[in-house]
Formats: sequence, C-alpha cells, structure tokens
Amino acid sequence: MFQKRLSDAATLVQARLDAVIADFGDFPVAAAMAHAVTGGKRLRGFLVLEGASLHGVAANDALNAAAAVEALHAYSLVHDDLPCMDDDDLRRGQPTVHVKWDYATAVLAGDALQTLAFDLLADTPVSADRQISLIKGMAVASGAAGMVLGQAMDIAAETAETPLDLNAITLLQANKTGALIRWSAEAGPILAGDDPTPMCDYATALGLAFQIADDILDIEGDAAKAGKKLQKDAAAGKATFVSLLGLDGAKARARELVTQAEDALAPYGSSADVLRQTARFVIDRES
Ligand code: IPE
Ligand code: IPE
Ligand code: MG
Ligand code: MG
Ligand code: MG
Repeated sequence: MFQKRLSDAATLVQARLDAVIADFGDFPVAAAMAHAVTGGKRLRGFLVLEGASLHGVAANDALNAAAAVEALHAYSLVHDDLPCMDDDDLRRGQPTVHVKWDYATAVLAGDALQTLAFDLLADTPVSADRQISLIKGMAVASGAAGMVLGQAMDIAAETAETPLDLNAITLLQANKTGALIRWSAEAGPILAGDDPTPMCDYATALGLAFQIADDILDIEGDAAKAGKKLQKDAAAGKATFVSLLGLDGAKARARELVTQAEDALAPYGSSADVLRQTARFVIDRES
C-alpha cells in the first residue's frame, strides 16, 4: 500500500512539474529545470499529499504545494552538487546539471526552480491567509534560517578545527534537511486550516531519521541504487551522525526516531498508517 501510494504521488507530482516547466518554452535553462525535477523518491511531495489526505484535502487541491516543495528541493540539489559546494557529477542516476549543461545554466535553473516553487504556492486553490502561511513557511524553511543556514553550517563543518558535537550536528541537520521535510508534513493541515502540531512533531523526528539514513547510505550504500556518488562525507572530513555515534549507534538512533515519529501520529489512529510506514521506509531505503 505504501509503495503504491508513493509511486502514485510521484507520478502526479512529476506530471504537474513537467506541465508548468513546459510553459516556459524551449531554452536551455528550462530544459535543465526539467532534467533537475526528474526522478527522485518524491518523499517531500508525498508527505504533502498524505498530510492533505489525512486532513480531508483532495489531492488536486494539494498538488501545487507538493510540486512546489519538489521544485524547491530540486533547486537545493542542483546547487548542492555544484563544484563550489559538493562537486558531484551524478544525481538521481543522471549527470548533474552543471555537467550536462554548464555552471551558469545550473545556477540559473536552480534560481528559477526556487521561484517556481513560490509561483506554484501562489496558485494553490485555497484562501489567501492559508496561501500566505504556506508561502511564508516555505520561505523560512528554505532560507537563511532554514535550509540555506544548514548548508552553510555543513560547508563550514568541513573545515572546522574541532569536529561538531551531537548537538551541533542535530541543529545542522534540522536546518539542512529537517526544515523542508517539516514544511511538507505541515502543508496538509495548513491547507485544511487544522492544527499542524502532530504532523510537525512527526516530521521533526522523521527529518532527523532521514538525514541519519542519508549519512549511513553515504558509508554503506550502493551507489548504483542511490544514483549518486557515495563515500564522500568521510573523504570531506565531515562530522555526521555516523562519525559521532558509529554505524550501529547511528542506526539505533534512527530507529528510536522512527518510533518517536510513529508515536506523534497517535491522534490520527490507524488512518495515519501510511505515514507510519513512511517513517520505516525512510530508514530502510536504498536510495
Ligand atoms: C537528498 O534528498 C538530499 C538530502 C537532503 C539528504 P533525497 O534523498 O530526498 O533525494 P531525492 O529527491 O530522492 O533524489
Ligand atoms: C544536501 O545534503 C542537502 C540539501 C541539498 C539541502 P547532502 O549533500 O548530504 O545530500 P547528498 O548526499 O548530496 O544527496
Ligand atoms: Mg551537501
Ligand atoms: Mg551533496
Ligand atoms: Mg549526503
């Protein structure tokens, strides 16, 4: 049930993104945007659609928000892969944008994907106050108090004289990865005008588990399945959950966080079972 719902969500989100990007016409930046939004697990878009469904919002009414977060996420990956950041040439099993095109195109495609996200949110069929709440939330989650801050902390950590401790890593990850995952989980209740607290608590634990799993995959994952280069964190001297807790410690922490995420869904009873499965998927995934 989980896999089918995830792949159905991915199909819907992909179609929406393809349609809006096609409207930009035929020029290299638009082609690079289409390339960048292709593939991936669509976890963030899926969380939007599942949270919406849990709060009685139809998939069609949540689809722009789901596509928006995947556009924003794709922008963050295009820039994360640039030579001045992680310098990666493979993403989702395909050449990265700066390799397939060039650096300028990658910067511009990332920029345009970021603004596309807000464009999509502004076209969400919901009252203006809820729209603004989504727009403001995404701006905060992705900007200098969220993802960008986390990315900056991550880069700084590579050259820090003393390695980060557990608190610092937790804060780094909460910004780098957690903020956008939390936005995704809160979007459904916000669209419905409901209290986002249970979804927020769920996503806080889920987001951390997700990044721990990314750090574990970097060490023991299969690059062909992951679709990106692995064994990069240790080479870059990055402090991660694995470098601090060891592989077994990091896995144990990820399992604890999954239980915490599942527990946060108690107010929904069994109707949140798909989200419980999502939490397990997040730490069992191979890509
Ligand atoms: C990768 O994100 C970058 C991180 C935040 C760790 P995902 O693992 O969600 O990548 P895709 O979207 O499935 O390719
Ligand atoms: C990327 O983190 C996070 C963002 C793009 C915000 P990583 O650098 O760990 O992601 P991968 O491992 O390249 O996917
Ligand atoms: Mg990075
Ligand atoms: Mg990277
Ligand atoms: Mg990584």
